[in-house]
Amino acid sequence: MFDRLSLLSADPILGLIGQFTADSNPNKIDLGVGVYRDAQGHTPILATVKKAESILWEAEQTKSYIGPAGNQQFNRLVLELILGDEHTALADNRAIAMQTPGGCGALRVAAELIVAANPKAKIWVSDPTWGNHVPLLGDSGMEIATYPYYDYESHGIRFADMLTTLRESAVAGDLVLVHACCHNPSGADLSLAQWLQLTNLCAEKGLIPFVDMAYQGFGDGLDQDAAGLRMMADQLPEVIFAYSCSKNFGLYRERIGAVGVVAANTERATAVASQIMRIVRGIYSMPPSHGAAIVETILADPVLCQAWVDELALMRNRIQTMRQALLDAMTAQGYGDRFHFITGEKGMFSFLGLTPEQVQRLIKEHSVYMVDSSRINVAGLTPTNIDPLVKALTAVL
Ligand code: LMR
Repeated sequence: MFDRLSLLSADPILGLIGQFTADSNPNKIDLGVGVYRDAQGHTPILATVKKAESILWEAEQTKSYIGPAGNQQFNRLVLELILGDEHTALADNRAIAMQTPGGCGALRVAAELIVAANPKAKIWVSDPTWGNHVPLLGDSGMEIATYPYYDYESHGIRFADMLTTLRESAVAGDLVLVHACCHNPSGADLSLAQWLQLTNLCAEKGLIPFVDMAYQGFGDGLDQDAAGLRMMADQLPEVIFAYSCSKNFGLYRERIGAVGVVAANTERATAVASQIMRIVRGIYSMPPSHGAAIVETILADPVLCQAWVDELALMRNRIQTMRQALLDAMTAQGYGDRFHFITGEKGMFSFLGLTPEQVQRLIKEHSVYMVDSSRINVAGLTPTNIDPLVKALTAVL
């Protein structure tokens, strides 16, 4: 049977991990997969995570099953973190969140939920979007279409084109996938005024937003990064969201995230929760415990929670500082105009605007690793690798 299966090439993002590891150049630079790195280039375990783990090590009493819905206290706390604890959807008891294995698990469970609710629904994703959105959503059988988003020339958002496409081509019941903040791969985010226009369009046409929130706290702050989603959850009858704790809690390998739904009323929200549990039971039965227990421990303790907010601010600010440092260094080489956009974008990613050939030269001749689209992980920049990076960039430009 297996002779029918051909050998596949590595994932365009995750494949870079292996390539980078295999490179023996001691000065290699990793701007590939989206993980936070500190000024020494390490991806640290947050001090608050370490503290929570030590608390758990002492306090945990059982390793028994936790059930398809996962950790209920985590579900409540993360919902409040996402929507804000005074949100109308919480007061009206029409919002639920359920622990999943990472944001990827949330995206896939949500896709199965959509297919169960409306097999004809199409999902509209930004052009470009994170590469893994397509398999995660499309493998559920859902049809995927794209709306214009990033303008590679101006480095801005093609907002008018985006609205026109959705207005003219999407139909009631279709989903619109929106990145809550720190758009992956472009770093170009909607303004709040644009979120409002999009919310109004969804209301007018009966479109359902599906908000992917993988970087809360990496843009402008926890509340600011959630403002668009909160507006939609306040003004629209139905919203779906996928949440990841990989980046903001640095819990990548623990696989912790949540799928969330805002429904028209409590009865609908409860029905949706039961459907999610059925889907989960049929795929992986229940999520792993450890990551949720860590997040729960941090969020439930005001002191630990404040310390985590501070750690998150340090990560956010370091990335912003590196954006400025890269722009300054490129400006010194006479490329200021070409790279001006880099400080206006948010989160881990930006496109450098290079061709795939230039990217391959960077990898092969300079050991500088990035995705073929020239998306860089800005968090991979450090005070010591900016100069060699700039030399490599100017050599291929
Ligand atoms: C990325 O975009 O680099 C991250 O979200 C990691 C991944 O799984 O692709």
